Amino acid sequence: MIKLKNICKSFILGGEEIKALDNVSFNVKKGEFVSIIGPSGSGKSTLMNILGLLDIADKGEYILDNVEIKNASDNTLSEMRNKKIGFIFQNFNLLPKLNAIENVQVPLMYRGIKREESKKIASEYLEKVGLKGREKHLPTQLSGGQQQRVAIARALAGNPEIILADEPTGALDSKTSNELMDLLEKLNKEGQTIILITHDINVAKRAPRIVRISDGKLYEEKEA
Ligand SMILES: Nc1ncnc2c1ncn2[C@@H]1O[C@H](COP(=O)(O)OP(=O)(O)O)[C@@H](O)[C@H]1O
Ligand SMILES: [Mg+2]
Repeated sequence: MIKLKNICKSFILGGEEIKALDNVSFNVKKGEFVSIIGPSGSGKSTLMNILGLLDIADKGEYILDNVEIKNASDNTLSEMRNKKIGFIFQNFNLLPKLNAIENVQVPLMYRGIKREESKKIASEYLEKVGLKGREKHLPTQLSGGQQQRVAIARALAGNPEIILADEPTGALDSKTSNELMDLLEKLNKEGQTIILITHDINVAKRAPRIVRISDGKLYEEKEA
């Protein structure tokens, strides 16, 4: 489903070249649950941005569902990003003035699904992530773990082929973080492909496959 071959990405900072990704090759099959672990500054977010079609590599090949990304138009890229990828971020990225169900409805309404129908779908996903009864709560009225569940429901509502999670437990305590990983594990058992980025080994270990990133280089650590 995902094929990266010899991907390089550099940033120039103060006249100096930083190799954020250095010849990275990496494949992910449909239905896999992979953790990418590495310390701060190792290139995790750069990799996530490339995988999520938010950024383009300087060199190398990225094939997503048989589409060669470097040949794709901007329109194709944004369409693929919207349809195929569900993002989950450390800081949840919920819209603060919308309640839980409205946050989940947003991507559905973008797809032209009518309000009543999107409400029904959103409430099913909130129930799936364990938030039945919290539909009308604003983000500020929910705990961190609950806010991240809303973000997961929102990602799932788009019916993505891949969930890309960048440090999804980074703002959570260890108990809440474990509960969130239980949820991701359950979703993966139901067939959801998940790529999770973290600097926390206890989080990474919850996935059947672990890949380590260090100074922009990728190493396979534990294979499923
Ligand atoms: N937009 C940018 N401009 C300059 N340097 C960047 C930029 N984004 C990332 N970097 C550098 O690339 C390296 C990898 O960063 P990043 O992918 O954010 O790491 P991580 O997410 O693992 O902390 C770091 O050295 C970082 O400073
Ligand atoms: Mg990062």
